[in-house]
Amino acid sequence: MGLRINDTVPNFTAQTDQGVISFHEWIGDSWAILFSHPKDFTPVCTTEFGAVARLADEWNKRNTKVIGISVDGIEDHKRWKRDIEKAGGATPYFPIIADDGLHVSKAFDMLPHEYYLPEHPTPADSETVRAVFIIAPDKKLKLSMTYPMTVGRNFSEVLRALDALQTSARAGVSMPADWTPGGDVIIPLALDDEAAKKKFGGFNAVLPYLRYTKLPD
Ligand code: BEZ
Repeated sequence: MGLRINDTVPNFTAQTDQGVISFHEWIGDSWAILFSHPKDFTPVCTTEFGAVARLADEWNKRNTKVIGISVDGIEDHKRWKRDIEKAGGATPYFPIIADDGLHVSKAFDMLPHEYYLPEHPTPADSETVRAVFIIAPDKKLKLSMTYPMTVGRNFSEVLRALDALQTSARAGVSMPADWTPGGDVIIPLALDDEAAKKKFGGFNAVLPYLRYTKLPD
């Protein structure tokens, strides 16, 4: 069974290219993004890790730690990081978990359908899919997304989703389709008009149940 939104994510101890971590302890009081990839030294994965590395300042500004994972070993991760830096133009400063025993991959349900077929899975069937888990400081899963082998993830969208989650947690609002930071937000239905006026100062009711407001900068 996969993880559900608001589940406490599994805790685990694992080897990374930067040493052993205990996951919940490693997260500490930060937000965290765990992202899996199928294989080191492959083209799409290399572009994805470069994209995450180039966003280092953005993750830091948002008090967010990032960590990669694949079923390859530590030495591969270390060697591959040189390629990521060369191709991506930024240092992949974050740890990558070496999940050669598949413990974390199974706990987070990151393996593809083929792995669970009755025939013995091939090595390719034991590679993690492209999953992203955004985890709040309370260790609860706030968002997950899964992409296939052939489609590189859009880390600008991951950043936007992180902004939306943090805004929601801070201000008790929801974000409309295609929201970006600074855009109008939606007042939850749990607040009646009077309470909404008191909390937000004012709002624009496009429909009785769709009330936009602005947040202070
Ligand atoms: C990739 O391009 O990231 C990739 C290619 C083959 C297998 C796994 C990943």
